[in-house]
Amino acid sequence: MVQHIAVYFTAFTLLLTAVSAATGYHNHTVGGTAGWFFNSTTNTPSTNYSSWAASQTFNLGDYLIFNTNSNQTVIQTYNETTYLNCTADNSDNGTFIYDSGSSRFGEALTVPVPLTIVGPNYFFSDAGVDSVQCSRGMAFEINVDRGLGLPPSLNQPPPPPYVEPPDPDTDTQSPPVTVAQPPNGGGAFGRRANVRLAVYGFAAAMLLLQ
Ligand SMILES: *[C@@H]1O[C@H](CO)[C@@H](O)[C@H](O)[C@H]1NC(C)=O
Ligand SMILES: *[C@@H]1O[C@H](CO)[C@@H](O)[C@H](O)[C@H]1NC(C)=O
Ligand SMILES: *[C@@H]1O[C@H](CO)[C@@H](O)[C@H](O)[C@H]1NC(C)=O
Ligand SMILES: *[C@@H]1O[C@H](CO)[C@@H](O)[C@H](O)[C@H]1NC(C)=O
Ligand SMILES: *[C@@H]1O[C@H](CO)[C@@H](O)[C@H](O)[C@H]1NC(C)=O
Ligand SMILES: *[C@@H]1O[C@H](CO)[C@@H](O)[C@H](O)[C@H]1NC(C)=O
Ligand SMILES: *[C@@H]1O[C@H](CO)[C@@H](O)[C@H](O)[C@H]1NC(C)=O
Repeated sequence: MVQHIAVYFTAFTLLLTAVSAATGYHNHTVGGTAGWFFNSTTNTPSTNYSSWAASQTFNLGDYLIFNTNSNQTVIQTYNETTYLNCTADNSDNGTFIYDSGSSRFGEALTVPVPLTIVGPNYFFSDAGVDSVQCSRGMAFEINVDRGLGLPPSLNQPPPPPYVEPPDPDTDTQSPPVTVAQPPNGGGAFGRRANVRLAVYGFAAAMLLLQ
């Protein structure tokens, strides 16, 4: 009898463990310890992001956490054409740009991106002349499963986007900026101008460096 109880208890514990593992929402650190970086000397991404993505399982309500700096961009799209062409088109409602508004190179950033739509989601960095980062492999596709469905925190009308105010006195030692975003990425194009500035600034720097 005691043995039976022990067996039931063990089975129950294993079941609880399995259920909680399957029911949690997960944060996936993009690229693992390599982060989301492009080496402009070797012209290569810091890791193979497709391989990284293939090692993960993604569900609604999970977040991708991009540990990066302002030398890269984070573009999310549901449009395969946009992804394959490495260009963010602001007339397309399925493309979102996550950026801090920073115009300085190398400022540390943490960009959390919630997964809110089932199916293929595509990510890339369009930084560099002719989106060189994307065309050199800084891009990946994931497939998002339903899992538990969206948690209430992501299933509501989005708050207005928050933009970190620029601080001209900070240097590159400043702490990482977290880019706050509405869950569905709404309003991302309101700050398109910042992205253009950053991209043109980057292009100008690349020309000077040549
Ligand atoms: C995942 O990241 C989001 C956004 O940064 C955060 O609000 C949430 O607490 C994180 N969840 C876990 C389990 O770390
Ligand atoms: C880029 O790659 C070069 C050559 O491997 C290396 O020396 C340099 O430290 C790398 N730069 C960064 C920022 O990781
Ligand atoms: C990255 O890994 C994928 C397989 O996950 C492979 O098909 C691809 O060729 C790799 N890319 C590079 C640049 O090595
Ligand atoms: C995807 O983007 C292309 C190029 O911008 C556009 O022509 C097409 O209509 C978009 N598709 C969808 C489903 O939005
Ligand atoms: C593809 O990218 C080029 C620039 O690299 C751009 O001129 C063209 O409009 C883009 N096409 C689509 C369908 O987005
Ligand atoms: C874009 O708009 C179309 C038509 O209004 C809609 O069917 C589609 O779901 C939207 N896509 C996204 C990603 O919001
Ligand atoms: C950012 O890019 C600029 C221009 O290419 C480069 O000089 C700088 O070293 C980069 N910074 C980091 C932290 O990668």
